[in-house]
Amino acid sequence: MCGIIGYIGASKAIPIVYSGLASLEYRGYDSAGIAYFLNDDIKVIKEKGKLINLKEKLNFDTDTFLAIGHTRWATHGEASITNAHPHSVGKFTVVHNGIIENYSTLKEELKMRGYTFKSETDTEVIPALLDYYYKDEQDILKTINKVSKKLIGSFALGIICRDDANAIYALKNSSPLIIAKSKTGNFLASDVPAILKYTNKYILLDDGDMAKITKDTITIYDTNLNTVNKETLTFTGSKKTAEKNGYEHFMLKEINEQDKVFKDTIGSYFDGTINSLEKNFGFLKNFKKINIVACGSAYHTGVIAKHLIEEYANILVYTEVASEYRYQKNFYDEDTLVILVSQSGETADTLAALRKAKNDGIKTLAIVNVLGSSVARESDYCIYTKAGIEVSVATTKAYLSQLTVFSLITMYLGYINKVIKKDELESIFKDIKKMPKLIKEEINNYQEYYNIADKISKNKQIFFIGRGLDYANSLEGSLKLKEISYINSVAYQAGELKHGTISLIEASTPVIAIATNKDLVDKTISNIKETKARGAFVIYESFIEPVDKFYDEFIKIPEVHPILESILTIIPLQLLAYKVAKNNNCDIDKPRNLAKSVTVE
Ligand code: AGP
Ligand code: GLU
Repeated sequence: MCGIIGYIGASKAIPIVYSGLASLEYRGYDSAGIAYFLNDDIKVIKEKGKLINLKEKLNFDTDTFLAIGHTRWATHGEASITNAHPHSVGKFTVVHNGIIENYSTLKEELKMRGYTFKSETDTEVIPALLDYYYKDEQDILKTINKVSKKLIGSFALGIICRDDANAIYALKNSSPLIIAKSKTGNFLASDVPAILKYTNKYILLDDGDMAKITKDTITIYDTNLNTVNKETLTFTGSKKTAEKNGYEHFMLKEINEQDKVFKDTIGSYFDGTINSLEKNFGFLKNFKKINIVACGSAYHTGVIAKHLIEEYANILVYTEVASEYRYQKNFYDEDTLVILVSQSGETADTLAALRKAKNDGIKTLAIVNVLGSSVARESDYCIYTKAGIEVSVATTKAYLSQLTVFSLITMYLGYINKVIKKDELESIFKDIKKMPKLIKEEINNYQEYYNIADKISKNKQIFFIGRGLDYANSLEGSLKLKEISYINSVAYQAGELKHGTISLIEASTPVIAIATNKDLVDKTISNIKETKARGAFVIYESFIEPVDKFYDEFIKIPEVHPILESILTIIPLQLLAYKVAKNNNCDIDKPRNLAKSVTVE
């Protein structure tokens, strides 16, 4: 959830750490802080709110060459200066991403040993424990190793100690942490964007790993304090994807990249022949049942994939949000495949669900956007989406890329299960060729969707309805709107509305109805009319403009094979959500209370 960074080298540390935090702010941004060495002492500066508030308190010219920084997404204790990281106790200062699940017990034990606490956070027990054990150990690494065995939960840590002004220490368990060497100096960070200005080479720490980082060396240790060597990875994305390139928001830039993302994703796995699908997805033929597990928008792609794979490949698909799946009784056959979908590849709930499936001896497939992320590395199989770095907290291009992968998977499974015949396959191939142009045309049609957005921006409640696949489509349309505009929006099965929820419909309540499933269009229209009869303001999204004008606004989308249709359905809804949020002056790229990668439970 949060972003952490540490730097030690030949350059002044504060500007480097600050700019690293700026590139990590999408991971959490309710408060921030930096700690650095000066005259053999550790100084800590913290501030509430966005990172820019901290900047005003910093002196970038300070003569310090070692610093750690943190941008927070609170889990324990409100967003405040006191609760902001870094946290210091005695000689130790720490920045932390994750949750210490046994912090209450540890806190009570430490209080009995005379420690007092300033913050409400779980994190503060970490420097206190370090201080407590260090008094006897007098060895920083051994102390960190000892404390790591006392902590239960998730923790990516940057640690500095007053007795060692020449090193930053790292400890990793469950939350992501990378380390990197560059000409400018050496780093630890939550994610690659923080170091891209200085190097694209990095090392991913594994659970239990510790590291000692000096300006010239990086030494990695396992849980027994043996030094270990780790593979150096190279980030292959382009640096410019981390910039706005002239767009007002990252979200708008990323929406506009979607035609390219579709092409890049398709092009990575499909050359127009079934052989290319066989080459990339052949492992799928071993499985007869599929579970798709994910969170948020990634989960929505699973619900869409369920409809498609069951309809076009005759394979039973079970979908569940990861936070439920990880704790429920799961029923597997030996030919079940669990598919984990995740943009970041670090979502704690999704990672836990993956580990549970593997623990149950079930094969796992990751559909992930971030190269080398935990979900990608720990799964048996991995298909990378090719969306590039997605900075906006509200996903758009990564979601579209996930749908694209599922379209390819459905095509392949449908073909080998003899549900999709050669001529249908050919027609899908033809539609695939048209998709980038169709996506671009929808994006260029933004003003039409903006005009509709202007009519609903002041509403307090908005409904999305659909049947079957269109209900699945409405889930994402609804989430996009509510997470960036803060308007309460509900996705509902169109046929279910009359069983209670329709009581909420009153004059001018916007109802966005999605109808791309030909067999169910008439049923959906009946449900729309039920809302219209109660005064709803109906926005109808389909590829056929009805003669009967039962709607107030019509969003026409191009018609393609159903395996691809959801990719076109979401684009107008992304742009609609964007404009509503803009009209309401919301922080579109960093909505309140959210973070891009939810690495805590
Ligand atoms: C997307 O708009 C949301 N911000 C959120 O639901 C996200 O999809 C979810 O947290 C899963 O993230 P992941 O894909 O990185 O696992
Ligand atoms: N649990 C810690 C806190 O609430 C860290 C949260 C985070 O990962 O940002 O401060």
